[in-house]
Amino acid sequence: MIKASKLTKKYGTKAAIQDVSFNIDKGEVVGFLGPNGAGKTTTMRILTGYIPPTSGKVEIGGLDVFDDSLEVRRKLGYLPENTPLYLDMDVEVFLKYIAALKKVSTDKRSNHVSKIMKVCGIDNVRQSTIKTLSKGYKQRVGIAQALIGNPEYLILDEPTIGLDPKQIIEIRELIKSLAEDKTIILSTHILPEVSMTCSRVIIIAEGKIVAEDTPNNLENRLSGVAKVLLTVKGPGEEISSKLKEISGVKRVNIEKTQASDLVDLEVASQKDVDIRGQLAQAVVQNNWDLLEMRREVLGLEEIFLKLTTKE
Ligand SMILES: Nc1ncnc2c1ncn2[C@@H]1O[C@H](COP(=O)(O)OP(=O)(O)OP(=O)(O)O)[C@@H](O)[C@H]1O
Ligand SMILES: [Mg+2]
Repeated sequence: MIKASKLTKKYGTKAAIQDVSFNIDKGEVVGFLGPNGAGKTTTMRILTGYIPPTSGKVEIGGLDVFDDSLEVRRKLGYLPENTPLYLDMDVEVFLKYIAALKKVSTDKRSNHVSKIMKVCGIDNVRQSTIKTLSKGYKQRVGIAQALIGNPEYLILDEPTIGLDPKQIIEIRELIKSLAEDKTIILSTHILPEVSMTCSRVIIIAEGKIVAEDTPNNLENRLSGVAKVLLTVKGPGEEISSKLKEISGVKRVNIEKTQASDLVDLEVASQKDVDIRGQLAQAVVQNNWDLLEMRREVLGLEEIFLKLTTKE
């Protein structure tokens, strides 16, 4: 379990993060989501013991990250932002070197490194010098490096950045499969990433946690209204006032009146009432034609923007 309590990090007078607290249980995959400069990297650096907080503390598996630094590091795999790699080393040599640092026993090193190279899709470049690799391949080497030593905890700062779409899917699958016996925290500003890989999301903006929940709950909790979008053939104003009479309808807006008698309407209702049936009936009973109807619930994308941008 990872336990962050009231973490604050100040650079000069400016707080990069302020009073950040959260708990992550064993086996969870938690997404740390926030716009540029929100404080994701700062928080992760503190979690891994790479920099100290100005105040607050972190415990990983019951050990203090600073008081028991070495012990904690043995259990941790860390993919930092801008993966620092030894550019003049060959991929396999580098990973074996990391394995030695992580105290993987000599007889197991070769096997362990081979397995991880396969998993990360880099066994075809095992003999290449790291500096000659493309950005995405360097990123894969960074992920491989974090997996060496089979750590219980993985802290991954933007693991899929710079990867091609196929590799992004593979890495997401990999992260999900690792979750079976690991506790993982990953940062991203890509929304589909959290819905696809994480069991819980922590949204951070301007150094503070602004929301924390499952991707599903966030979508439900924050979308107070559901919208139904309709295209109807008939007189706009008249349709609008008929639809307003339906119970559960909060608002009706005429979005645009298309040519030849077609109107687009946006009907807002409480999110727990499905008014589509009644809308369809009202249209048909008045002899208008219902050409299209679709329900729109606020997605994670809008929620994220709502939470992280000032009006
Ligand atoms: N060494 C430093 N000195 C001064 N300010 C810093 C330092 N490191 C980070 N900051 C500031 O702290 C804030 C948080 O930065 P951080 O790198 O944690 O954001 P982030 O969420 O990781 O952003 P990104 O999505 O761009 O990676 C920013 O305002 C940044 O400018
Ligand atoms: Mg960052």
